[in-house]
Amino acid sequence: MLRTHTCGELRMADVNKEVTLCGWMQRSRDLGGMTFIDLRDRYGLTQLVFNMEVNKSLCEEARKLGREFVIKIKGVVTERSNKNAKMPTGDIEINVSSLEILNESKTPPFTIEENTDGGDDLRMKYRYLDVRRSTVKDALLLRATIAGLTRNYLNEQGFIEIETPVLIKSTPEGARDFVVPSRMNPGEFYALPQSPQTFKQLLMVAGMDKYYQIVKCFRDEDLRADRQPEFTQIDCEMSFVEQEDVLQTFEGLITHLFKKVKGIAVSGIPRMTYAEAMEHYGNDKPDIRFEMKLTNMNSLVKGKNFKVFDDAETVLGICAKGCAEYTRKQLDELTEWVKRPQLGATGLIYARVNADGSVKSSVDKFYNPEDLKQWAELLHAAPGDLILLLAGGDALIRKAMSELRLEMGERLGYRGKDDFKALWVLDFPLLEWADDTKRWHAMHHPFTSPKPEDISMLKTDPGKVRANAYDLVINGVEIGGGSIRIHNNELQQQMFETLGFSKEDAQAQFGFLMNAFEYGAPPHGGVAFGFDRLCSLFGGSDSIRDYIAFPKNNAGRDVMINTPSNISEEQLNELSIQVVSTAPKSRN
Ligand code: AMO
Repeated sequence: MLRTHTCGELRMADVNKEVTLCGWMQRSRDLGGMTFIDLRDRYGLTQLVFNMEVNKSLCEEARKLGREFVIKIKGVVTERSNKNAKMPTGDIEINVSSLEILNESKTPPFTIEENTDGGDDLRMKYRYLDVRRSTVKDALLLRATIAGLTRNYLNEQGFIEIETPVLIKSTPEGARDFVVPSRMNPGEFYALPQSPQTFKQLLMVAGMDKYYQIVKCFRDEDLRADRQPEFTQIDCEMSFVEQEDVLQTFEGLITHLFKKVKGIAVSGIPRMTYAEAMEHYGNDKPDIRFEMKLTNMNSLVKGKNFKVFDDAETVLGICAKGCAEYTRKQLDELTEWVKRPQLGATGLIYARVNADGSVKSSVDKFYNPEDLKQWAELLHAAPGDLILLLAGGDALIRKAMSELRLEMGERLGYRGKDDFKALWVLDFPLLEWADDTKRWHAMHHPFTSPKPEDISMLKTDPGKVRANAYDLVINGVEIGGGSIRIHNNELQQQMFETLGFSKEDAQAQFGFLMNAFEYGAPPHGGVAFGFDRLCSLFGGSDSIRDYIAFPKNNAGRDVMINTPSNISEEQLNELSIQVVSTAPKSRN
């Protein structure tokens, strides 16, 4: 070893020890006869002291060190006269007696300290420098800790980790596939897995009754703060189980992680049906850190000659506690906010509950004081509260009100990062209608089992069929999803039929699974958690990128290695690929 200790471990108990440290020169300060250097490695920072009076030439050498030079020093641990309580090593410093430069460094393009001056793009381009910063490094360490805890827990529960292939077959359901051309099979393509779904089901047929894998998945979809084209799942499957067994098993995992990572005792994760979530929160992943439920106001507001409400399919209300003081300007700004194209509301109606209990609304012309009091009663609005109403088509307004609820929750400080509320959302619809393709699509995936009592409606009223499917939602983020699977070949075929597959298509796409089901498929079910999302939730960030060592940007590019990029004519020829439109020239 080149070093005796790391830069994060020396304490008062080490005073007088002679030590050798290696690391990067983070910062240097010259104070007359002394030079102080912060030496950094993965474990922390240690202050080095060079004294002009003790060793002039060494001190001069130290003064010449550039930022991020890699050095090795020898010295004696001494107690600091000026202690720094913010640094774990802040009680000590090293009186340096020898210095060796292991490598020089160009001046980095941004400051490598906790707070940096580097913009997103620059930090991504030099991600290896960004990872030296404690915020990014700590995020990766947290990720490793959570992965370790997950493996230990599942191993102890008798799950076995099995790897499934990465070069698989493209299927038409779900998001778009990333495809890989096959040189040996001209004109044919592999696809990268969107999830190991069918393989884990095949493993159940194979008798591996408790499987898990921390696995990379790939989806060619539009990116957001919580979506990356390649991301990681904690993917799990079990045989001979019902929904309740799966929920309890993985409630165990989540409880374990909360306890070990955050020191929080979770006692039971509450449950809500999809129908309830949509009704009260306008959203299938409600943030239940706060109430502010959506209330249907139709029975109170219609029939009073206010055209906006009379013409609307649905009028929804929420009560924002203590917001009656909102100024006209604030309300105008909120109105503009709900009218943005992303939300699409046509306007915002509000009513203030005054200290004496009377209610003053923006539509007093149409509603008398008694009407308005009824609004307040229905919404449990007390003096000092603000009532907000949106009107329009049910689906659009529910979504807009859900966003407004979250925004008001944020403004009122109800969405603290250290407050965690987990929730199982159950009984999702099995299918959803897509107007563009004019057919039913699986809401989860085509292998999800309908609730037995709803199967008869598959042919008559497919939209009403509920699935044995569940999501785990924490603080309004979809952390995981799963279902009990179809294990009966006939039902699986019927499902493909409902999804508009001909017998031949279904056989061509999913024949391998249906054939396997003819050889004794056990009842089975499982779940997959978004590992990156779980890490960012525990770490207190909204962006999963912070928890991925080398993430892609919002355009799906890795700006560090500059990919996607063009490939040579020769490679294209070898792969029998003809480029019809000119590919954009590689950036960077
Ligand atoms: P699902 O598609 O719901 O289920 O995915 C499971 C979880 O993976 C996370 N996730 C993502 N995270 C980051 N970037 C993405 N692009 C992304 N897409 C999904 C989410 C999500 O809840 N095979 C099924 C699981 C099963 O039925 O067992 C599946 O993949 O947190």
